[in-house]
Amino acid sequence: MEIQHRGFFTTPSVGGRSKFGVACAWMACAFTASVAMFCGTSAMAQGGPIVIKFSHVVTANTPKGLAAEYFAKRAAELTGGRVKVQVFPNSSLYKDKEEMEALQVGEVQMLAPSLAKFGPLGVKEFEVFDLPYIFDGQNEARLITNGRVGKELLSKLEPRGIKGLAFWENGFKQFSANTPIRSAADMRGKKFRIQSSRVLEEQMRVVGALPLPMAFSEVYQALLTGVVDGQENPISNFYTQKMHEVQKHLTISDHGYLGYAVITNKKFWDGLPTEVRGQLEVAVKDATHYANSIAAQKNEDDLKGVIASGRTQVYRMTLAEKKAMKKAFLPAHANMEGRIGKDLIQRVYRETNFDPRRF
Ligand code: LMR
Repeated sequence: MEIQHRGFFTTPSVGGRSKFGVACAWMACAFTASVAMFCGTSAMAQGGPIVIKFSHVVTANTPKGLAAEYFAKRAAELTGGRVKVQVFPNSSLYKDKEEMEALQVGEVQMLAPSLAKFGPLGVKEFEVFDLPYIFDGQNEARLITNGRVGKELLSKLEPRGIKGLAFWENGFKQFSANTPIRSAADMRGKKFRIQSSRVLEEQMRVVGALPLPMAFSEVYQALLTGVVDGQENPISNFYTQKMHEVQKHLTISDHGYLGYAVITNKKFWDGLPTEVRGQLEVAVKDATHYANSIAAQKNEDDLKGVIASGRTQVYRMTLAEKKAMKKAFLPAHANMEGRIGKDLIQRVYRETNFDPRRF
């Protein structure tokens, strides 16, 4: 018998994306927490596999998708089949916002949302990763994710009932549009889809572009129908969502970072048998190593795929063009001090030797 561990809430699923289901779960969870905690504990004692639902929004063939599968495999190996991880890719279970809610009420047990998606949860500090050009290369991002700042950020999730387990990398975002983007001036007046981050909103506004927050699963259609003119994503996301079919130009701008926080429902995690939790911690560690070792190559391979398709023209910005773009985006850093915290921004500047006066 398979046991569905739903954290502190148990209810039959009524369709992956049902807001109603999630809303009901929210209302009910206050009453059922203690009952379900008891049920969860007794279910574990029965000895069937512990099922972990891992939902995400990108395809299986992306750095995150591949890492989630790798985690599932390691979890099964390390626990001798005691834990069964079911991965639901490509928003097949929940879209961005719904998956966060589903995790909190225990409808799913693990997610790896992009760092730009924690603001709506009330943990605005994660948006420090969204500051344009804050990292000059992956190694600089690692100084934060592997250091004290990263640890502190993950711990801020706990009061929300969420435990942060690790950071996974994807890479740097590139702009795409139906017209060439070589400078901030080329973005003026254009509508860009963004993730649900105030910092990304500000990044667009300071150059006169119009930001439109939207779930990842809706981007292809929005580009196809002209609801937005462009978007920003690492190439692995661009290519696997087939955005090259609906965008004429892709600019290698490396203007922003996109990584993930691997998260779980804290009550679920803390309620696992100690031995299993330890094994899963190793599985997370292995999957993190794997994710971070394949991400850059995956983005490079997918760039080749975009070029080979012949449908999107790829332009690599010159150093001078990048420098000019950085300068144009820089006011977004100061404008977002109130939201992210000046201290946090300064800490990241210090760790990475980012000097705003250089531009
Ligand atoms: C996006 O929404 O553009 C990305 O965060 C998707 C992802 O999870 O990589």
